[in-house]
Amino acid sequence: MGKSKKGLKIGILTAGGDCPGINAAIRGVAKTAMFEYGMKVIGISSGFRGLIENEYSELTEKRLSGILTLGGTVLGTSREKPFKTKNEYKDSVSNSAIIKKNYKNLELDALVCIGGNGTMNTAFKLSEEGMNIIGIPKTIDNDVWGTDQTFGFDSAVGIATDAIDRLHTTANSHKRIMLIELMGHHAGWLTLFAGIAGGGDIILIPELSFSPEILVKSIKKRYSKKKPYSIVVVAEGIKTPEKQSPARYISKLIQEETGLETRDTILGYIQRGGTPSAMDRILATRFGSHAVSLIVEKKFGNMVSLQNNRMTYIALSEVANKKKLVPPDHSLIMKGKSLGTCFGI
Ligand code: F6P
Repeated sequence: MGKSKKGLKIGILTAGGDCPGINAAIRGVAKTAMFEYGMKVIGISSGFRGLIENEYSELTEKRLSGILTLGGTVLGTSREKPFKTKNEYKDSVSNSAIIKKNYKNLELDALVCIGGNGTMNTAFKLSEEGMNIIGIPKTIDNDVWGTDQTFGFDSAVGIATDAIDRLHTTANSHKRIMLIELMGHHAGWLTLFAGIAGGGDIILIPELSFSPEILVKSIKKRYSKKKPYSIVVVAEGIKTPEKQSPARYISKLIQEETGLETRDTILGYIQRGGTPSAMDRILATRFGSHAVSLIVEKKFGNMVSLQNNRMTYIALSEVANKKKLVPPDHSLIMKGKSLGTCFGI
């Protein structure tokens, strides 16, 4: 980097599934870069697709105004995986070559990539190709390796817990078994945290393969103790023998085996939308601002991370191709078990 900090020009993009807090992170990066270091900040549209199609615009102070509390991402996002998808030139020019050319033409000194696991994999590959990359981890799944938490997670736990609370009152009134399915294909963090916070009686996560017999026994035991309603919180990624939603499958199983009335709810994209929680706004702001510090210190090829409540960073090479899953002996599982929560095992 031949320029002084003042002349630097950085790009920022948001990729993968959206989540609450992305705009707070964009604002954290851009305001720190502009106000503290006098940098120019370019917002790339729709994730890596914007870098391939050369769609971008400068982030001005005016554009950043009022976005802290907004859900989604003002830059737009896409699930574009430049190292996997084809472009209009078919195989003659690779996406990564186009991205490198556009990065160069834009005269970017660094690129901040805000995203989850897929984004960090791509970010690592681009940094291997010589681009100055900094990653910022986000996702409601909380499954990015190398950080204690991602932003988006706290908001989603709040939304899911609220949904479970609402199911409690109707379950109690009708004496029904209520199933709720939460997001998380591989990682059960959201289901575990919301399940515990919402007082779920049974919590099923992808990391623990459940036994239908234990599950049914637990419902019957509750019924015999004059607890005629139960809340079952399941992650979308639990393995079931049939190709249908896990909530539907478990709901049918319980009804058939116990004769009790069941209902199932799939919470879906509501978990990813809307206003970020205060904690997510704070974490996203800290991440955004720290990303700029790494740029200033030329610590490229890293992802900002939260470790023991301190801002630090970890090499993208360490993060790429990994997932942070719930360990089977996680303290919350142990605590849940001692309170009588069934995990299907
Ligand atoms: O953002 C992560 C996640 O919410 C997963 O939990 C979920 O399964 C997935 O994204 C679905 O997102 P999309 O439909 O956008 O691919």
